[in-house]
Amino acid sequence: MLIGVPVETVPGEARVAVTPETAKKLVAQGHVVRVQSGAGVAASVTDAAYQAAGAEISADAAGAFAADIVLKVRSPDERECALMKPGTVLIGMLNPFDAAGLQRLATAGLTAFALEAAPRTTRAQSMDVLSSQANIAGYKAVMIAADKYQRFFPMLMTAAGTVKAARVVILGVGVAGLQAIATAKRLGAVIEASDVRPSVKEQIESLGGKFIEVSYDTDEEKEAAVGVGGYAKPMPPSWLARQQVEVAKRVALADIVISTALIPGRAAPTLITEDMVKSMKPGSVIVDIAAGKGPDGIGGNCPLSEADRTVVKHGVTIVGETNLAALVAADASSLYARNVLDFLKLIVAKEGTLKIDLEDDIVAACRMAQDGQVTRK
Ligand code: NAI
Repeated sequence: MLIGVPVETVPGEARVAVTPETAKKLVAQGHVVRVQSGAGVAASVTDAAYQAAGAEISADAAGAFAADIVLKVRSPDERECALMKPGTVLIGMLNPFDAAGLQRLATAGLTAFALEAAPRTTRAQSMDVLSSQANIAGYKAVMIAADKYQRFFPMLMTAAGTVKAARVVILGVGVAGLQAIATAKRLGAVIEASDVRPSVKEQIESLGGKFIEVSYDTDEEKEAAVGVGGYAKPMPPSWLARQQVEVAKRVALADIVISTALIPGRAAPTLITEDMVKSMKPGSVIVDIAAGKGPDGIGGNCPLSEADRTVVKHGVTIVGETNLAALVAADASSLYARNVLDFLKLIVAKEGTLKIDLEDDIVAACRMAQDGQVTRK
């Protein structure tokens, strides 16, 4: 089959859906891989590297979109959709919660698969784009914090005196939060972390962090804390109020706060209030991975954070970068491209033809549109 790889056009998107490594594998499977010229440049991949892997280069977007299967990072806009013929298979991070975006894909007659919708099961792990990209985001959040922070992370004993280790608070300990803990620990920070799911306590401790304990006093609180499908559910206000008291104490003492708390399909919870920001020392840094996902799209886990901007409020630097993975574009693309390749194995038969099996729970969960209809589960 003809597999197209267009240039990503969302501002700031530096990743690419196919790397020379995966292109080579697809070509070996008998497919023709057609990459739009420049598609890999922002991820440090040249056209020549794709050609060496056996791919052909298309001078324009039209050539890359005129394929049987189009592999993308982000959902195509109206203009890009118009370049694909009905029945084209589209695979990407298509944002399953964007109803208008999914309708656009359905109207274009695409058979569209959003990889973010894959279930959190062992079999789906190798195609789990949320994990592969959140892992990178957690790492990069710490790197940015270390860059903005005007002091050391590790404790240092020097002839000129002792420097204290940075205190880092991590809010939300999913994939990004765990990687943030691991990365900050490697830099020598002292770490405390909070999550609604008590099951993460052991994981935090195994990485050398301390879990911020908040009791679960009612059946409703205990039930909500279990979450659903590995994801968090909104917690009752009674628990959130107690969590806020405990988090506020730690934030006031923290040098760095990395917040990653999300609830799929809902606004990110407010965990760092303006008063908490005021309580922080001048020069402290907040990296809010949930920026742009707060109530009504304003703020993130901190209402003062601004999507895609770094601001200083009450002496605290607040980083609102919304696409941290794209700032590590080469590795983010490598991992994403492998996720895509593994998903392709589910929908392409050995003979190289399409085989969309809706009995397969991963295929069914990822399918967002087909035959003009939105088919999201
Ligand atoms: P996410 O990005 O949806 O959320 C990040 C974190 O925020 C979660 O840990 C969540 O519990 C937490 N959170 C939500 N509200 C909060 C609040 N009010 N205060 C503090 N924390 C709050 O989560 P992510 O990273 O996608 O991971 C979700 C789950 O999926 C995790 O349990 C992870 O271990 C699991 N997982 C399982 C996989 C598998 O079995 N194949 C693969 C990857 C992840």
